[in-house]
Amino acid sequence: MIELQNVEKTYQSKHGNVLALKKTNLKIAAGEIFGVIGLSGAGKSTLIRCINMLETPTGGKVIVDGQELTAMKDSELRKARQNIGMIFQHFNLLACRTVYDNIAFPLEIQGMSKDTIKQKVEPLLALVGLEDRRNHYPSQLSGGQKQRVGIARALASNPKILLCDEATSALDPQTTKSILGLLKDINKRLNLTIVLITHQMQVVKEICDRVAVIEDGTIIEEGTMFDLFTNPKTPTTKEFISSINNVELPEILKTAPMSKEYLDGSRPLVRLSFIGDSAGDPLISTLIKKYDVEVNIIYGNIDSIKDIPYGTLLIEISGDREHIKNAINYLHERKLKIEVIGYVS
Ligand SMILES: Nc1ncnc2c1ncn2[C@@H]1O[C@H](COP(=O)(O)OP(=O)(O)O)[C@@H](O)[C@H]1O
Ligand SMILES: [Mg+2]
Repeated sequence: MIELQNVEKTYQSKHGNVLALKKTNLKIAAGEIFGVIGLSGAGKSTLIRCINMLETPTGGKVIVDGQELTAMKDSELRKARQNIGMIFQHFNLLACRTVYDNIAFPLEIQGMSKDTIKQKVEPLLALVGLEDRRNHYPSQLSGGQKQRVGIARALASNPKILLCDEATSALDPQTTKSILGLLKDINKRLNLTIVLITHQMQVVKEICDRVAVIEDGTIIEEGTMFDLFTNPKTPTTKEFISSINNVELPEILKTAPMSKEYLDGSRPLVRLSFIGDSAGDPLISTLIKKYDVEVNIIYGNIDSIKDIPYGTLLIEISGDREHIKNAINYLHERKLKIEVIGYVS
């Protein structure tokens, strides 16, 4: 649905050139909720604004829904852009217009008649739950309600894609949840492709299917949420994940002598991560019964990634060396992620 090929963006300013986005390649499938996470200044906004050409890339191709936007004339581009809605951190509503008139605005610009506009705006008001606020002005709305207007306005021209630039960053956690819920809902109902940029891991975890991590204008890591959570490869990704998924070792183990290798009589400390169905497997009892080892549970947690259960379990296994080896092999064969953190003696 969206493809970036070697897309680059250099800003020219009084203080010299800023290479905000280095050669970037990205493919986002139709119907996907794709997240881009990075710290402030990493190039997130530049990246997302290149997708709808609010920023013209200084190199590379942007292809959306089979059409190359980077090769279009202005008039063609204006038309193609109707396929791409966008919402913003600070909502960007028109203060002098009511809720209804804000949503109607892009349709008025397209020259639609009052009746056609009404037919489009009414269901959108219902979709975002603002029917009773239609005559209110932005200053009379809460942040969450303003973003709902932003979403309805972005959907007015029936886009296939919705771009969200830090859309929940100005909202409190509760309101963030409700807006993310609405985005998930319209993603399913309208089969809308959503690209969302954020500096908050919590947001990504709540709704994204796949995510890219961006740093200094470069995508440094990309994958499914589960991959990223269970196997982060870069320090930046690890940092983002630990911000919400802090599986700290208990004090006693931090100070316990731990080696990288198996020593005679030492006990492996194992972190298991599992997702979806396998979360219900009788794993521990199988280990104990079948492999004749003892299992000490040190930490356990069940969370979710986009509504799918995601569990973490920290266990210590003790017993015969051979038994331990077989037990760990058994774990490796399961549909879960296993990491031997070290051997406690
Ligand atoms: N219009 C601009 N002119 C010059 N530099 C810019 C402009 N917009 C962004 N930048 C610079 O590009 C880099 C990436 O910015 P941005 O894409 O806004 O990052 P993010 O959204 O991740 O915070 C930053 O160093 C920023 O200062
Ligand atoms: Mg930004």
